[in-house]
Amino acid sequence: MLCQRAGLHQNGESMADSKKDICRIELGESSYELPVVVGSEGERGIDISSLRSTTGHIALDRGYMNTGSCVSSISYIDGEQGILRYRGIAIEDLAEKSTFVETAYLVIYGELPTASQLKEFSAMFTKYEMLHEGLKHHFEGFPPNAHPMAILSSMINAMGCYEADIADSDQHFDEVLVRIMSKVRTIAAFSYKKSIGEPFIYPYPEFSYCANLLHMMFSVPYKEFFPSKEAISALNKFFILHADHEQNCSTSTVRMVASSKANLFASIAAGVCSLWGPLHGGANMAVIEMLDQLYKDKTKTKDFVAQIKDSTNKTKLMGFGHRVYKNHDPRAKIIKKSCDELLSKLKINDPTLEIAKELEEIALQDEYFISRKLYPNVDFYSGIILRALGIPANMFTVMFAIGRIPGWIAQWREENADPKGKICRPRQIYNGQTSRPYKKLADR
Ligand code: SDX
Repeated sequence: MLCQRAGLHQNGESMADSKKDICRIELGESSYELPVVVGSEGERGIDISSLRSTTGHIALDRGYMNTGSCVSSISYIDGEQGILRYRGIAIEDLAEKSTFVETAYLVIYGELPTASQLKEFSAMFTKYEMLHEGLKHHFEGFPPNAHPMAILSSMINAMGCYEADIADSDQHFDEVLVRIMSKVRTIAAFSYKKSIGEPFIYPYPEFSYCANLLHMMFSVPYKEFFPSKEAISALNKFFILHADHEQNCSTSTVRMVASSKANLFASIAAGVCSLWGPLHGGANMAVIEMLDQLYKDKTKTKDFVAQIKDSTNKTKLMGFGHRVYKNHDPRAKIIKKSCDELLSKLKINDPTLEIAKELEEIALQDEYFISRKLYPNVDFYSGIILRALGIPANMFTVMFAIGRIPGWIAQWREENADPKGKICRPRQIYNGQTSRPYKKLADR
């Protein structure tokens, strides 16, 4: 297969120029040409849009390990270099200098907001932080031990029923997105209060995005909780680090649902369900359960690593490995540093942090992990921060979802704005029974 270069317009069109790259594939006696597209960071893709119509073949790629589903300008990952940028801005800069609301604006609209744009955007979150009182009754329908991710997904769609007048209208996109981003906090806090049998606490208009979430979770009618600036800063950083991440499993789910022209509520509710899985966003909860078990059983870290390496064992080192990062996950480095800072400021001694560091140290020098390019991912240390903020493990993936919502919104918008967008409908290779007759019951 010979591949050369082609340019790429912002909207994903291959540039028609003399330097066009062509991929030639040989199938039996025939050879075919396929265009190559090159992204703004030099990434290269073979455009197989015409593969079936010209060759009668489809491409088969389980788990889409080698397949790009779209051209996107929202986030960029270099898995070999451990780079993550939102709209071209490095995650390290945003984590250190930005806030979650400002980063959400960047991810959704493509540029950092001016002072007046940020003021107006923030004011919208305050305007839409309350839930319609009718939504409160839905919480009564869930059992006390209902998983908060099940509640979050259901309540986002239920919320859409109360916004039906604008849910499907494109010109109300700015309004719909802020309502979702603002109210998911209230839904998350109410689901937490429901799970511990405490009364719902309403948001405070004068609180910031993160302060309000912590207030709604931890205040009680007789005693208000005023989050510390360290806690607010740590939660802002946590959300910034989760805001978007190219075409991961849940974002691809959001885009798949968006491609059928379903509205933003339905698409995000689907993304929540996809994120829930322990191989994806559910890993942050699985990591803390793993670390707690090791601490409780006083298991030596080197013995645990030996268990993981034993191929007869199905144990994974949760929070390690990544489909794209084959070097360190830049988010994990930032979260690990933030862990140390927060725990020392809050004077918290969490023994699982030392266990996590020991596991990382052993794994990074062990051939099993090195050969498979397994490094800590965003979920390895994040649970330790969330626990330090008083957030229970079953809420960890809800926090991940809240952080990811700006990315899902931006990706939903990009999917709908694509002039060449089509409903996502993959093909398959059939390997079942070939044609055969129906047999009467008596003949079976
Ligand atoms: C997130 O895609 C994203 O961007 C996701 C995310 C985002 O921001 O949206 O970054 C968030 O989901 C992070 C990942 C959280 N999940 C976990 O921490 C769960 C543990 N990790 C693994 O399950 C795994 O690493 C995945 C799911 C993350 C990636 O899986 P891949 O790319 O399909 O890799 P694989 O399962 O084929 O593994 C390749 C090899 C296998 O060994 P061999 O069969 O070659 O001998 O590496 C091994 C795996 O057994 N391996 C692990 C391992 N992860 C992979 N062995 C032990 N522990 C692990 N964690």
